[in-house]
Formats: sequence, C-alpha cells, structure tokens
Amino acid sequence: MTHRLYEGKAHAATYWKYRISPSDHLMQQVLDFLQKQGGEFELAVDVGCGSGQGTLLLAKHFASVVGTDVSPAQLELALQHAHKPNITYSRQCVAEELPFTDSSVDLVTAMSAFHWFDRPRFLQEVHRVLKPRGCLALLNYTLNMELSSSDGCSDALNHICREFYAALRPFRSPLLGQSSIEMYREAFELIPYPEKEWHGCVLNTQLMPLSSYMGLVESFSCYQALLKQDPQRAHKLSQDICQRLMSVMKVSSAETEVMVDVKYFYLLACKPEEA
Ligand SMILES: C[S@@+](CC[C@H](N)C(=O)[O-])C[C@H]1O[C@@H](n2cnc3c(N)ncnc32)[C@H](O)[C@@H]1O
Repeated sequence: MTHRLYEGKAHAATYWKYRISPSDHLMQQVLDFLQKQGGEFELAVDVGCGSGQGTLLLAKHFASVVGTDVSPAQLELALQHAHKPNITYSRQCVAEELPFTDSSVDLVTAMSAFHWFDRPRFLQEVHRVLKPRGCLALLNYTLNMELSSSDGCSDALNHICREFYAALRPFRSPLLGQSSIEMYREAFELIPYPEKEWHGCVLNTQLMPLSSYMGLVESFSCYQALLKQDPQRAHKLSQDICQRLMSVMKVSSAETEVMVDVKYFYLLACKPEEA
C-alpha cells in the first residue's frame, strides 16, 4: 500500500526550498562502500527522490542516475531543477515496483523515504534490480535537530526546540511507529546480506538562517499533518517558536544564521555475488 503524502504543490515547494541533503562526506561513505564491495558506477536509482536534492548529488559519480517517486508534484519540481544530462526522473512510480530489469542497478538509495514504503516489498524489489555487488543505501535523519550559537544560549534555544518537537509529536504518523531509528535498525537486521553496515548517529552540522530551520521543521510530515488539521494553530505554533528563538538570540531578523546539528542514521548493504 502506498501512503500518499508529499502530494500537495505547496508541500513540494516547501520541500524544495528547505529540505537538506546528505553532506558530501556522508555521500562519500556510501560511494566508498560501493567501491569497497567491487560495485560499478553505471546506474544509481534514488527511490522516493522527492524534489531531487539527493538525486543531484549522485549525478557526478554515476554514468546515469534515475530518480523515482510516487508524487507528481515532487517529480515536477525535481524535473525543473535537473540540469545535469545524466539525470532522468522516471514517471510516477511506486518504490515497490521499480521500472528496471533484473540485476541492472549498481546503487539504490532512499533518502528520508524508506519509512514510507511497504518495506518488505521494497527490499524484495531492491534485491531483484541490484546487480551482484550492487549496494543499497537507506539514509534518514531525525526531527530532534539541535541548534547551537556562539554566544552561550544553545541550552535555551534547545529548550524551545524540544517544546516545538513535543507539540508536533501527536501529529506523527502512526505508520512511523515510535522511533524511525528502530525501524531502520530492524530492517538492517532483516537484510540477509553478509556485507552490511549500520551507522546509528552521524552528526551533520549546517549553518542556515533561522527561517530555513523553521522551514525545515515545517517540511516534516508531522507539521504538515497539523497544518492540514488546523492551519491557524500550525502557523501560530511556528510563529511563536520563531519569535522565542529570536528573542533568546537577541536578534530581530529570522534571517540571522544559526548552526543546526542534524542527526543522520543510515544503513548500507551489498547484494552478494551468489544470491
Ligand atoms: C520525506 S520525502 C524525501 C524526499 C527526498 N528523498 C529527500 O531526501 O528530501 C519522502 C518521499 O517519498 C515518496 N514516497 C512515499 N512513499 C512512496 C512509495 N511507496 N513509492 C515511491 N515514493 C514514495 C514521497 O512522495 C516523498 O517524495
């Protein structure tokens, strides 16, 4: 069953504007794993590519890259920003039925997307399309990002952020369970390939305007669920939090920059030669 989220044009636009992608360093870990396993760099497929930020990162390392997603609104934005000749976006398609022949793909990635899929069916499909020595990389990050500021107010900022996350928690989709890390960890345990790696917490620190941090939290499905249910309450929550953060930072503009610690977790797995 496909869960139709991220479909609205406004949500897709928020996505393109604010959503972050893995750092070059993190992407390099994925590429190094593929190389170490003896994989090739011909075809990478980014499943649940959304508006394509992560797909773009893959383009400089592979002969061709295909992004796939179930949402036409997300794909439309991805197409608008696909300026590299080796990227194509597949017409709307579900993660559980990928339009590739058996043993034809070198790397399958899903960035902040695997938790929305029918996970057993997706993993079976990945097994079908991967070449022997081809790899799977599932990456995600948690909502509980932390802010840091050079003038000693980080604790006060994070106290407010934690209130923000707690207010959004009741709007978390039940499909995600209690913890996405646990969900990915379970998938990791179930993948029968001997060559696999689990990375439970990799910090990725990004400097961004406070407004972008707010936009990033607003792109999460829990904020979007609140927005759908009660737009006034969602806007008020977001405005109050932003005002309080600015007041602690003693600034009057939400364009003031702040360090955001994003907590990534990911798994890597290689399809064996004899599988
Ligand atoms: C949280 S977004 C992540 C987008 C992008 N990969 C990123 O890193 O920002 C999840 C994406 O998965 C897509 N998606 C959810 N379920 C899907 C499915 N069963 N098949 C294909 N795409 C799916 C959604 O449309 C959405 O674009």
